[in-house]
This record gives sequence, structure tokens and C-alpha cells, in this order.
Amino acid sequence: MGSITRRGLLIGGLGTAGAAGLGTYAATKGSGASAPKGAFGAPTPVSPDPGQTVVTKSLTAKPITLDLAGRTVSTWGYGDAVPGPLLRATAGDFLRVTLDNQLPDETTIHWHGIRLRNPADGVPGMTQDPVKPETSYVYEFTAPDPGTYFFHPHVGVQLDRGLYAPLIIDDPNEPGGYDAEWVLVLDDWIDGTGTTPEQVLEKLLANDSGSGGMGGMGGMDHGEMGGMNHGAMDEAEPWGDAGDVTYPHFLINGRPPADPETLRAKAGQKVRLRIINAASDTIFTVALGGHRMTITHSDGFPVEPTETDAFYIGMGERYDAIVTLGDGAFPLVAKPVGKAGGGQAMAVARTGSGAAPGGDASPRELTGRVLIGSDLRPAQAAKLPSRRPDATARLTLTGSMQPYAWGMNGAPFGKNEPLTVRAGQRLRINATNMTMMTHPVHVHGHTFALPSGLRKDTVLMAPMQSFAIDLDADNEGDWMIHCHNIYHAEGGMMIALEYIA
Ligand code: C2O
Ligand code: CU
Repeated sequence: MGSITRRGLLIGGLGTAGAAGLGTYAATKGSGASAPKGAFGAPTPVSPDPGQTVVTKSLTAKPITLDLAGRTVSTWGYGDAVPGPLLRATAGDFLRVTLDNQLPDETTIHWHGIRLRNPADGVPGMTQDPVKPETSYVYEFTAPDPGTYFFHPHVGVQLDRGLYAPLIIDDPNEPGGYDAEWVLVLDDWIDGTGTTPEQVLEKLLANDSGSGGMGGMGGMDHGEMGGMNHGAMDEAEPWGDAGDVTYPHFLINGRPPADPETLRAKAGQKVRLRIINAASDTIFTVALGGHRMTITHSDGFPVEPTETDAFYIGMGERYDAIVTLGDGAFPLVAKPVGKAGGGQAMAVARTGSGAAPGGDASPRELTGRVLIGSDLRPAQAAKLPSRRPDATARLTLTGSMQPYAWGMNGAPFGKNEPLTVRAGQRLRINATNMTMMTHPVHVHGHTFALPSGLRKDTVLMAPMQSFAIDLDADNEGDWMIHCHNIYHAEGGMMIALEYIA
């Protein structure tokens, strides 16, 4: 119960729970410059530049079932599988993606990490109207930067269903140097196991009343906190209290360890791993048994190649790594950080014969050198030109589990003042985490630089940690900054970044 005491600390001045939700954005927008909710209308068609390659894709968001090693669960996905279909283009291409919404709910698509034109960013009430059931919406944008990305809805807690898929933007000048590529999407899974993500959020918010009543929800942990994660704190270093929800399953590419995906290549080959954390409430430690990995990219941008046994990956982060494969069958494990319910995600890397590792395989690399992504150094090419900031802004993460109320700059989204910037400025955001939990802070439409110069769009902030993050205001519009724990975001931990004249 020690964790509950620590988690219950209320630091920062939140009075009431702030499930403001994204839909209220336009109605409360400070500058009054954008259209009121419901007034965005159909997207204005844009044309590719002459000579630009156009990549066209259709996605249907719909109810589907997912087979978790023999347990069939109902969920929502893109197409027929979880993750949805890989979307791939080359840097500079024009993407035209039609979303057909066959869900019983409104939805949107957010292209996570892409520095795209604001109207295609997928934030309802801020950049578009939500896409109603039985209607479709066309997203058109140029993807300027190569890298590993993903896409997901920006409505409520839909991300915690099966609505996510990888998005890879290839580098036309890719030096290559690898023989194979494996794309690995990590997830924490609860949907269809007796409760939906919406019900999880409802119960977390009800924690406000002090009743803590999560009992009776099938598929959730039935401990004292009734499904809310508490414990395993000591394993969670350096992240303190890392997550709120106890998940029955952890998946790699939609599959649990009892029915893992087999990744194939030849012994001696170099494989490029592209690892995406699409989980809603879980930081993972990733390791490949019997191997060291060389991290080459973080959130799409190149880093000084760094060898490690394992690394942490927060929700919304992506890392690319190069591995030279040994001969045999090896567990690729993503172990949740600080989750009381245990379990892990696993795939099998196979280059030769030999028995597949068991689902509970625990490679010793997991307890070797575990790299913290923000310690990486940027590759020269990824650095922002050196320049003094023209403006500064404050970003303070506040909130608590009890009541379940999260905010930025002392108030939940909808009640906090947007950050502002002028086009052309270098903005320094002084971010501080004043809570006892770790939060992955994500900025839309821009890739910021940490003091080391490391480029990120999502950065894990440990309890009481501060970062000065710099961004170049070169992409006009209204953008979100938020915690990529989807329950925290919906609990109020979001703020707007607005361009002003
Ligand atoms: Cu991946 Cu605003 O989110
Ligand atoms: Cu958070």
C-alpha cells in the first residue's frame, strides 16, 4: 500500500477532476481565432506539388475480433487486424488517406510525430470536426521527415482499443547497411476482456469520489484498488509510479506471448528493429535475448549509434535499433515497468533451429544496461541550428491519482491557458513534472530538442524531472501538447500551443 500513499500526494493546485475532453477546445479557446465546434466542415482539398509522389490508402475503422492465443475478444481496429495495415511512404511524399468510419462512435486519425499541415492533424474541435459513424474523411498531407511513426485516433480513449498501425517514412538517402527489417508494435491490452477502455476511464475518474469502486469489472485486477495498478514500485526505477491500469495482456504485433509472432532472418544478418509503443498506460523495457542492440534513431531522428542491453520505451515513443543476429531462436521481450499484474509482451526472433523460448522468458539483458532514451546524443544531422530562444513558456505537469485529476499549468485542459508562439520564433518550453508519476510528454506538429540537442516528439519525464525543450515555430496552427498516457490526457493532462500574430 506504500505506493498508494505516494501516488495519493497531491502536488499542484488541482481542485476538481478535469475530464474536459477534446471536444470543449474550440468553445474555450483563448484567442477566439478558430471556428466554433462543429464548424470545420469538410476538409479543404489540397493538391500535391508537381512531381510529388502521391501515396493513396483507404482505412476502415470498424468493430473486429482479435484472437489472443485462443481467447477471442471484441475490439475496434483498422481493417481486419491489430495492428492495422502498415502505411509506408518516402520522405517528401504526399499522403492521401481516406478514413471510413464504420465504428458506432465518432473518431479521427492523428499521425503521431509527423510534422504535417495543421488541418490534417486529427484533433477534433481543434483541427477538424470528429468523423461521424457511417461517414468518411480524407487526410491529405506531406510527410517531410523520414522515420518510424504510427497513427491512432484522437478521440477519448479509443487508442486503448486496437485502433493503431505503424507508419514508416523511408529516407531517400538511407545509408542502409542492414539486411532485414522488423516492425514491432507494443501494446497493453484490456479491451474485450470484460471491460472497455471507456469503462476503465470512468472508474478511474470515479476514484475522485473516494469510493474507489472498480469491483465487479470482469477482466480487471480485483485487488483493493479494484483494477487500478498499484505496486511493483521498486522495479519501476527510475520511473517511480509508472502506470494506473492493470492489464491482463501485453502484445507485440497484436499477439500475446502464448502465441508469439516469429520474426525470421539469417544468422549473421543485420536487422533493423523499428519499435513503436502504442500502449495507453505502459512503459516497457525492451531486450533481445542473447544480443546487444545499437540504437540508431529516436522518434524518427538519427542519434549517435549507442550500444545497449535493453532500453525503456514510453507510450508514443519509437526507437530504431540495429542487431547482428546469432544462430537460434531468441526471445524479444517487452517487459512492462512497474505493473503489479506481471506479464510481458514477447515475439520470437528465429534464425535457426531450436525450441522457441517460453512466454515467460526473461533474458538477462533486461537487467543489464537499460538505456534511458533522453540520454541519447543526437546525430549531427538531427540537431537544430544553434540559436538563442526568442520566447519562453512554462509547462508544469500537475495532478494525482486520488482524486484522478491531471493537468498542465495547474488546471485541466479547457481550463488552462494555451501556450503561445509567433511564427519564426525559437520557443523554449521549461517543462517540469510536479507529480509522483512518469509522463510521456508529446508535442504535435513539431519535433523539439532536449538540451543535448536530441530530437524527440515524445519524452518520458520522471517524477519531479525538468527539461528545457526547444522548438522552432515553423508549422502554423493550433496544436496539442499532452501526456501520452491516454487516461491522463483524458483526465485533463493536455494544453494547446497556439500560433499568434
Ligand atoms: Cu499520439 Cu496527441 O497523440
Ligand atoms: Cu501522464
